[in-house]
Amino acid sequence: MWLATHRLCCILVLLLVAEAQTRSLQQSKSVSNLPLIQGSGSTAAATLWRSIIANASATGNAPFSLTYDAVGSGQGQKSLFSRAYDYAVSDVPIASAVYNGLDRKILQIPFAISALDAVHSVSGLTKPLNLTAFVFGSILQCTISRWDDPAIRAINPDAKLPSADIFPVVRVDSSGSTELVTNYLATDPSWALAVGKSIAWPKCTQQVQGSDGILNYIAAQKNAIGYAEYGLARVQNIAYAALQNAAGNYVRPDQVLAANATDIFGSDFVIPNSTANPGWANVSLMTSSALTCAPLMQYDSHTVTPSFFIKFIISSSAHLISCVTD
Ligand SMILES: *[C@@H]1O[C@H](CO)[C@@H](O)[C@H](O)[C@H]1NC(C)=O
Ligand SMILES: *[C@@H]1O[C@H](CO)[C@@H](O)[C@H](O)[C@H]1NC(C)=O
Ligand SMILES: *[C@@H]1O[C@H](CO)[C@@H](O)[C@H](O)[C@H]1NC(C)=O
Ligand SMILES: *[C@@H]1O[C@H](CO)[C@@H](O)[C@H](O)[C@H]1NC(C)=O
Ligand SMILES: *[C@@H]1O[C@H](CO)[C@@H](O)[C@H](O)[C@H]1NC(C)=O
Repeated sequence: MWLATHRLCCILVLLLVAEAQTRSLQQSKSVSNLPLIQGSGSTAAATLWRSIIANASATGNAPFSLTYDAVGSGQGQKSLFSRAYDYAVSDVPIASAVYNGLDRKILQIPFAISALDAVHSVSGLTKPLNLTAFVFGSILQCTISRWDDPAIRAINPDAKLPSADIFPVVRVDSSGSTELVTNYLATDPSWALAVGKSIAWPKCTQQVQGSDGILNYIAAQKNAIGYAEYGLARVQNIAYAALQNAAGNYVRPDQVLAANATDIFGSDFVIPNSTANPGWANVSLMTSSALTCAPLMQYDSHTVTPSFFIKFIISSSAHLISCVTD
């Protein structure tokens, strides 16, 4: 049973917002003369978040105007902490040490679940490419550099792999996707690079900005491989892999996300008692044995004591807190 084992690279997307939302309501006005609420962050969740903003605005009831700059989760968090922006969208929670050092309370509100995956442009495969943390990690460290390397062939017996160089592509900006993927790769002892949002990559990798940078590179370059939110790859017809989980099974993100509540949230999954709790840093869908949306919905509607901004977002977009993958 592949579902009864470790989740892989699942993303819990969080809305980060200061408890007292006053700066922009007082200071900035949009063209429509409504108060401007400015946010930035995750590129992986940008398409979804923009759709949420557009839908919220389309109701015509919004007492403010929302903006969003997709600059990566790391920069989004920094800009919120420094008060340059009013909110952030992040596919990783705030680290507890950082959270505890903040000069005001930041609420972390989960609003979507998706999955990160290896995305590639190897053609001619009739089945998803299988990857392990060892093989994918070796590719990004350039210790495996050819598609017909025996280690790749061994786990892909049904693939005709080209005798060609691999073009690895990675994120150079401070990225939640990088943090998640390096966490996964570090489950194999061969991973010699750092784990985090922004790491020093080897020179042999192509280093680009944003999820779009990864997907555009792969769309243009044959035999390339990188990592991105799987829904973005799917809408752009970019192939995604099956990653090996802790039980040794190869799992595709669409299989993981199709799982039900019981399967997705495991018994080891502990939801913090409030959105203003540093414990969100410990919530990882990658290592939990399961996860789903229903508990999050309940959690948010009953226990958030949010600013008007959050109340509006949650009430005006019922899909907001749901499993959205693309
Ligand atoms: C926005 O509204 C459109 C049209 O009703 C809908 O298809 C889409 O799913 C909505 N997006 C979100 C994120 O709720
Ligand atoms: C990936 O592994 C599965 C399970 O071992 C296997 O059925 C499948 O054929 C493999 N895929 C390829 C492309 O070889
Ligand atoms: C979830 O799916 C599993 C099979 O994968 C099934 O046994 C279980 O009853 C389902 N649970 C719910 C709450 O639907
Ligand atoms: C919520 O959890 C925090 C940290 O574990 C704890 O200090 C606090 O008392 C808890 N609050 C409630 C209402 O249970
Ligand atoms: C997170 O988990 C670690 C290790 O289990 C624990 O030491 C730490 O207190 C937890 N942090 C929070 C904020 O719950």
